[in-house]
Amino acid sequence: MVYSTYNSSNEIEDGVLLGRTSTPPRIPIYVKQADFLRHCLIVGTTGSGKTSLAMKLANELKRYGASVVLDWYGEYSRVGDYIVDVGVGEPVAIPIEDPLDAVFLLEEVLDLSSPQAYLLAKLLKKPKDLERVIDLIETYEPEARWEVETKASLMRKVSLLLKYGKVFKVVQPSEVDRLVEFSKGRLTVFNLSNLKTLELRRLVALGVLNAVKYLKERGVFKDSVFVVVEEAHNVMAKSKFLQKYLAEVRKLGIGLIVVTQSPAGLDYEIMNNTNIKVVKALKSADDISAISKSMNLDAKVASLINKLGYNEAVVEAPSLIEPILIELT
Ligand SMILES: Nc1ncnc2c1ncn2[C@@H]1O[C@H](COP(=O)(O)OP(=O)(O)O)[C@@H](O)[C@H]1O
Ligand SMILES: [Mg+2]
Repeated sequence: MVYSTYNSSNEIEDGVLLGRTSTPPRIPIYVKQADFLRHCLIVGTTGSGKTSLAMKLANELKRYGASVVLDWYGEYSRVGDYIVDVGVGEPVAIPIEDPLDAVFLLEEVLDLSSPQAYLLAKLLKKPKDLERVIDLIETYEPEARWEVETKASLMRKVSLLLKYGKVFKVVQPSEVDRLVEFSKGRLTVFNLSNLKTLELRRLVALGVLNAVKYLKERGVFKDSVFVVVEEAHNVMAKSKFLQKYLAEVRKLGIGLIVVTQSPAGLDYEIMNNTNIKVVKALKSADDISAISKSMNLDAKVASLINKLGYNEAVVEAPSLIEPILIELT
């Protein structure tokens, strides 16, 4: 039998009730907020109930700080205390301190090649230049043969960010505390569903993650921040942004809830850097094998994963001796 270590009444108050063990004596399973600050991964096929669970967690965790949701499909308005409909009305603020940060950001968002990133670095002299980067590329006179081809391909990629109007603006990071109005007890939803391209959604998602990190680094916001990253497989391109972010922010009091349907597509580092894992139903053998391996599941538990119902999950958490099947509340 495995036990939750948090069943004295004092400790129960300091945590989120995830559910109960499926088998008698149906022990309540609590997860402490400190454990969420070392990140949580929720995996499961489409329709398995990931978003419903992430919604509940974001809503409960806000009593320890601020919750933020990167809402890929516009599903969280019901639970949001403050909704930012990105792409509708005011452009969303992307904090950028240095032109090179803009290059790194676009390298990730647009999956730029090295020559493309190099040319971009040459053109961006100040952060604000990002807003008129198309003009800068267009009017640039190539100085070498390789630049002709690179200019055209860079133009193609960058236009994905700018052809739908001004949905973002570049601000100094010092301005973000005014713009990203976090406060304790509030769940802020960034609704990304109005943005027309994957690249735009990704840019805003990374911009918000950077803003959260900035606010915590400078001590502008004192309480914990919990960020739900929906559709995490879409948020990341090939580079290591999310992996690095997970590792860097845990000491800052930022806990990520990474939600994805495809654990097989996740970098091993992401699995390693998430302390709580919630596995909902999965169908593909590759996905089942990837997550079972990372959690070191025994064959019996692994064989349950394709049969899990909405209310069930296999959970790994620091409070549990080994991963167990629980019935979610
Ligand atoms: N515990 C549950 N019991 C019954 N229906 C549920 C439960 N959790 C989710 N659903 C329903 O299943 C559908 C998919 O859930 P959702 O959380 O959006 O899944 P996912 O994010 O994994 O695609 C939704 O219509 C939701 O209302
Ligand atoms: Mg979902």
